[in-house]
Amino acid sequence: MKLSDTKATLSFSNGTPSMELPVYSGSIGPDVIDIRKLYGQTGLFTYDPGFMSTAACQSSITYIDGDKGELLYRGYPIEQLAVNCDFMDICYLILNGDLPDGEQKKDFDNQVTRHTMVNEQMHFFMRGFRRDAHPMAVLTGLVGGLSAFYHDSTDITNPTHRHISAIRLIAKMPTLVAMAYKYTIGQPYIYPQNNLSYTGNFLRMMFANPCEDYVVNPVVERALDRIFILHADHEQNASTSTVRLCGSSGTNPFAAIAAGVACLWGPAHGGANEACLNMLEEIQANGGMAKVGEFMEQVKDKNSGVRLMGFGHRVYKNYDPRAKLMQQTCKEVLAALGLENDPLFKLAMELERIALEDPFFVERKLYPNVDFYSGIVQRAIGIPTALFTAIFALARTVGWIAQWNEMLSDPEYKIGRPRQLYSGESARAYKKK
Ligand code: CMC
Repeated sequence: MKLSDTKATLSFSNGTPSMELPVYSGSIGPDVIDIRKLYGQTGLFTYDPGFMSTAACQSSITYIDGDKGELLYRGYPIEQLAVNCDFMDICYLILNGDLPDGEQKKDFDNQVTRHTMVNEQMHFFMRGFRRDAHPMAVLTGLVGGLSAFYHDSTDITNPTHRHISAIRLIAKMPTLVAMAYKYTIGQPYIYPQNNLSYTGNFLRMMFANPCEDYVVNPVVERALDRIFILHADHEQNASTSTVRLCGSSGTNPFAAIAAGVACLWGPAHGGANEACLNMLEEIQANGGMAKVGEFMEQVKDKNSGVRLMGFGHRVYKNYDPRAKLMQQTCKEVLAALGLENDPLFKLAMELERIALEDPFFVERKLYPNVDFYSGIVQRAIGIPTALFTAIFALARTVGWIAQWNEMLSDPEYKIGRPRQLYSGESARAYKKK
């Protein structure tokens, strides 16, 4: 970041002397006002619940222009990456800052592939969970549990440990997600197979069984790989900020990523894909197309508590570029699988059509987000609804770990410690009740 010629001046109406605040510019996007000395000089805090106007760090990984509907990973537009790269290219890019050449890609693939197995003991760890446990509950536990199995790579001051942990997390996440699925349906775990692609291997671990051969369907493989690419990183969203805050205490990477998984689970964040599909299924069960108008009236009624899941975004005030790519993938996958008439896809298209014309949504700049179509694609390729958010977590792991690593390498990094506006009782003497 560089110091801007502009300076901000904070003045007070009560006679407190005004204060000059430095302004910094990034490479693109809004400038920031540096308020780090504010409390020291004035005894005041800033108040910004939900971080509506607060940049909590500097980062060079992902850039979003919410008004334009633009998303860049390391400067490359998502639209170009989605059609020219596979998920391993994207992981390399996000972790290392640029796309790999042929040799670098081979080496990276090899590193990830060699770490896909999990410690056999983790199979016993799984047995403590109920069979009907939600996969995100299982995943939160398993990812946190990795630190108990791989404590040879938890020294956060050692760059080699940090690298191995990053590779381990990216490599083992598909194995853990597939294990969580197999456990709930009572099937044996399928070990990873090194001659398959990252995504092909995941599909095999999910859907193969020991009794017959499994052949990866390239259409399904490509669609899932696209889902992984579109979810790989997204700037300082809630789960990434959670990973940073958790990691800022110096905890190990597995613990920090487990915190990210837990945060992602919520329906306002990664849990929206599951909630969105449940919403579509409910509309369908209650009368389908004929009930779309009625449902939209409920969404617009603030007292109903009903939201159009998969719509709206804190940053995008235009079409989420990931949603556009996801809609296109959805069309391609449904056509390739002979599911062109999928009723839920038709419902989703109709909801979108109404929303894009309705003043309620137009005035609030509410557009489809990445979760609106991803559930339909995942359902079409056989992934159960309860596993959608776990797929998101799998894909976002690279972003989380890259952001965590970036934070640890930042000389300005400090433990995260927000302050508050206290509104409770002032000091009072103890009285027995
Ligand atoms: N349906 C109906 N109204 C909505 C919706 C929606 N999906 N989203 C926002 N609004 C309204 C909201 O009621 C408010 O109206 P008003 O100004 O009259 O009070 C206005 O739009 C602004 O909403 P907000 O909740 O203050 O905005 P936010 O930036 O705090 O929340 C959001 C962003 C994503 C949590 C929210 O849009 C939402 O709950 N969407 C549905 C859940 C969803 O799809 N989440 C996935 C987000 S993208 C992927 C990810 O991050 O994991």
